[in-house]
Amino acid sequence: MAKKSTSASGSRAALKAPPRTALKAPAARDFQAQVFARYPVEVASASGVWLMNTRGERILDLYGGHAVAGLGYAHPGWTAALAAQAQLCQFQSNAVAMQVRAKAARRLVRFSKLPFSSVFFVNSGAEANENALKMAFTVTRRSHIAAIEHSFHGRTAATGAITWGAAAKWYGYPRTPFDVSFIPRDDVSAIAAHVTDATAAVIVEPVQGVGGARDLNADFLRALRARCDQVGALLIFDEVQCGMGRVGEPFAAKLFGLQPDMLTAAKSLGNGFPCAALLMTPRVAQALQLDALGTTFGGGPMACAAIEAVIEAIESEQLLARVRHTAAQIRSRCVLGPVLATQGAGLLMGLRTSRPAKEVHAALLERNILAGTSADPQVLRLLPPYVLGDEHVELLRVALLDIGD
Ligand SMILES: Cc1ncc(COP(=O)(O)O)c(C=O)c1O
Repeated sequence: MAKKSTSASGSRAALKAPPRTALKAPAARDFQAQVFARYPVEVASASGVWLMNTRGERILDLYGGHAVAGLGYAHPGWTAALAAQAQLCQFQSNAVAMQVRAKAARRLVRFSKLPFSSVFFVNSGAEANENALKMAFTVTRRSHIAAIEHSFHGRTAATGAITWGAAAKWYGYPRTPFDVSFIPRDDVSAIAAHVTDATAAVIVEPVQGVGGARDLNADFLRALRARCDQVGALLIFDEVQCGMGRVGEPFAAKLFGLQPDMLTAAKSLGNGFPCAALLMTPRVAQALQLDALGTTFGGGPMACAAIEAVIEAIESEQLLARVRHTAAQIRSRCVLGPVLATQGAGLLMGLRTSRPAKEVHAALLERNILAGTSADPQVLRLLPPYVLGDEHVELLRVALLDIGD
């Protein structure tokens, strides 16, 4: 039998009540749910890699709204595509054929350079993962999922269940909907005990995002693929954060030379227009039945126009090469001041810091540079737009030097 979870498991006992975090009293007349800690910055507009705050100051954006703004802001091709689609027809559901949807699906499969045969468009990363899990259960008729320690897959009942540490921190549901176990990161010797003939799928972010911009070991990923094949389980790559060009390849699967059975994409997929996709190989797609999966907004024409514009820009502006170049620049020029080392892949980069990453984050923001943090308190996470240039890397270098160690 597959090992039971040490964290978000199917057992009631493992689920602790989420801690009550003290929230500041809502500001007067702020009706927004008080669930997000906010950075001390208020954005009014944005262009390229720059945010403009409400005080009229420019802030260099190395965070891209949680890895979403891959093309940066006010990208002319993307804004024109959305405006044109809004004029043409802003919405029809999947019950009605539309060329823009068919084109987006074809373009996404071709862009992936992987042998997928079907795309199911949805609205968010969690929804894409949720549907991937459902397909894994449908295909294999098994009930266990293996995930990786330090993973993040979303906030729904199913995706929270496969997210490392969610049970202790925020899961909130009385029990998880299926059996889950977590494989220690990069531990090849632990795989066999977790991935057995009870396992429907292994889900993995090949480059972990929230967990600390950590690229997983290629041997570990290869061993996951081999073990899945051995026991008849499916391999799901969650590329919600690391996909769509962010690692300097269309998807991280390509970076590692691996073929997952399913792949999920979101975030930079729409450059800020909410959308996500589940890509399936023929083995998975043959199990699809009418009405098995569904969505109202998924695959809407605005989302599909955004997806096509994103792929068009990545290809025509050679952004994959640019991501590789800029990432190499950061790696070679920005290990100084409080930065001890870099990790991750492409522009999903972690800067390992000598002092708490939060302090470095705040010091950068004082110098009008917005970065991100992660679940690893010593890792500052960079998820900038792909159009970042050498001159912006220089601004980061100077700021880090100024902050000092
Ligand atoms: C790897 C990964 N998977 C899934 C999700 C969930 O995506 P969403 O917030 O769009 O539901 C995230 C969000 O950060 C993510 O980083």
